[in-house]
Amino acid sequence: MNDIHCIGICTGGGDAPGLNAVIRAAVKSSILKYKWKVVGIPDGFDGLIWPELSRELKLSDVSGILPRGGTILGTTNRGNPFHYKSIENGHEVVRDISDEVIANAGKLGIDAIITIGGDGSQKIGLDLFHKGMKLVGVPKTIDNDLSATDVTFGFDTALQTATDAIDKIHTTAESHHRVMAVEVMGRDAGWIAIEAGIAGGAHIILIPEIPFSVEKICEHIASREKYGRRFTIVVVAEGIQLPAELRNLSRGGSVGNLVGDAISLCAHKEVRVSVLGHIQRGGSPSPYDRVLGTRFGAKATEMIANGDFGKMVCLRGESVESVDIADAVGHLKRVDPEGELVATARAMGISFGN
Ligand code: F6P
Repeated sequence: MNDIHCIGICTGGGDAPGLNAVIRAAVKSSILKYKWKVVGIPDGFDGLIWPELSRELKLSDVSGILPRGGTILGTTNRGNPFHYKSIENGHEVVRDISDEVIANAGKLGIDAIITIGGDGSQKIGLDLFHKGMKLVGVPKTIDNDLSATDVTFGFDTALQTATDAIDKIHTTAESHHRVMAVEVMGRDAGWIAIEAGIAGGAHIILIPEIPFSVEKICEHIASREKYGRRFTIVVVAEGIQLPAELRNLSRGGSVGNLVGDAISLCAHKEVRVSVLGHIQRGGSPSPYDRVLGTRFGAKATEMIANGDFGKMVCLRGESVESVDIADAVGHLKRVDPEGELVATARAMGISFGN
């Protein structure tokens, strides 16, 4: 058993439903099982720049937070102690403040840290581990794009939100005989788009992994019209690769609107676009994400007790395991264009616009 008396917890990167479930599980098992003190670090590793802002987390602090979205600790997707940006005399200055951050963790009496975050936060965690910080990672992101784990918590809730939106779009699209596009998040991976698209009965799904053309989309809309289907639902992942004809028109705004306008022009149909945005990150976590978050939080404390530092919790099949953070970061898990999920969608008549 390691000589651990006090652990710190921080949440980094974009929030995801289930963060509070992880925090609650880690606090509960630290206190109840291991008798450790727990310190909550606010706003990712940025919180260690001002150690006076960190506070002890007691059982009463995590009571009632399981169904709550967001993170009680706060987060940032800008902070990186190795490239800390600040404004000095009106100019942006970038400094490496990692030594300061590690020293401040020591001043707070923290023996080890649980960092809950996506690819970027895990990379920072790995660099801090290499500098001597005892640290374990918990994977988080609604995008589900971390390769070392079957699933990240947050994805299931985001998927439900996106599917619910597509269900609602369905009825109005059908009533008005419209083409309706729904833009979903996911960064460079099409997991939310393809799964919500299949679950919501979409007719066209555009994902970053499969290049598409507006012409093919319009052909599919026309073929539906031929057999009397006068409405079409198009799910657009935010990270799609724009075809050349749209790339020139892009002003960095919503790709859903860009695709919607292009379809309207070529299909001569009314198109309406809904950009779901951060709705997908908010709200109460699904039961699946609450359970996964709880399992991940409990496992993280067990890893600290066992001295498994520099590792990240992961889900493999049915079991929660661990993997070296070094093997977990840097290569994203993306939808396989030749894989079973895409083939299943195609078998349902869904077009990928190619
Ligand atoms: O990684 C999660 C995510 O929600 C992505 O799906 C999205 O591209 C990005 O974060 C949005 O980040 P921000 O909160 O900075 O707008």
